[in-house]
Amino acid sequence: MGILSDGYVMGDRIGKGGFGTVYKAIKKLTDRTVAVKKLERDKFPDRIEEEIRALERMRHRNIVQYYESFDEGGYKYIVMEYCEHGDLRSYLRRNGPLSDKEAAHVLSQLIDAVSYIHRQMLMHRDLSTGNVLISHITRGVDDDEVKLEVKLTDFGLATVMRPGTKGAAASVVGTPGFVAPQVYLENYSKEADVYSLGALLYSMTTGKSPPDIRPSRREPQAELDLRSLSPEAADLIERMMCKDHKRRIQLNG
Ligand SMILES: Nc1ncnc2c1ncn2[C@@H]1O[C@H](COP(=O)(O)OP(=O)(O)O)[C@@H](O)[C@H]1O
Ligand SMILES: [Mg+2]
Repeated sequence: MGILSDGYVMGDRIGKGGFGTVYKAIKKLTDRTVAVKKLERDKFPDRIEEEIRALERMRHRNIVQYYESFDEGGYKYIVMEYCEHGDLRSYLRRNGPLSDKEAAHVLSQLIDAVSYIHRQMLMHRDLSTGNVLISHITRGVDDDEVKLEVKLTDFGLATVMRPGTKGAAASVVGTPGFVAPQVYLENYSKEADVYSLGALLYSMTTGKSPPDIRPSRREPQAELDLRSLSPEAADLIERMMCKDHKRRIQLNG
């Protein structure tokens, strides 16, 4: 436990990703519980500034709300809304796969969020179960159907679709298994986020990680295992994870 100069009392560590460590904290002035992401400022200064610039612009019910950021002792701290049920990856590990109806409820929220991001001329580029946070869980009264309310986070790899580059961004990033094949050819645009949403749907309905298709892998490429799924879920996943990005299903709007 420590107190930061900006008046936050730091609590438990709640997460660690490839770049940052995330803590639960309380803002003393207001008693509000928040999440604080701590990043080493000098490691990837441009990436951190891009993350904050992207987050600052976002105002959507399915995107984690940014509050403020500040520097202290060589670290950058990003303060945001706290989601008490943690990330979707841990949820699926604990509870197994979701039903089609449960997964559809989550997917429609993520589609709303990603369409909003694309309208802001940004790509997320790291859509994965670890970057989807659960803010509310409601259980049905007379069935065991679970409704998850989710918020997208981690704009560390979000990139502006710059005019003149046809929306292409040329550097390989993202979480293996969730990354679209054309990303490895260093030529991709917002359809890559659709592939990742398909990989998310695959993860939600099977409870498994999507196959890692990185070209650097030595083992033979793993295939999607759709056998346990309904025909509707399998069909949608195949259309979202279509390797040819020109034939991939698109987001509306
Ligand atoms: N606002 C939040 N509320 C609750 N848990 C969070 C929040 N932000 C992040 N986490 C937890 O911390 C993990 C890492 O955060 P993330 O922003 O994805 O960092 P990284 O860039 O290192 O991947 C998440 O997968 C999640 O478990
Ligand atoms: Mg992350």
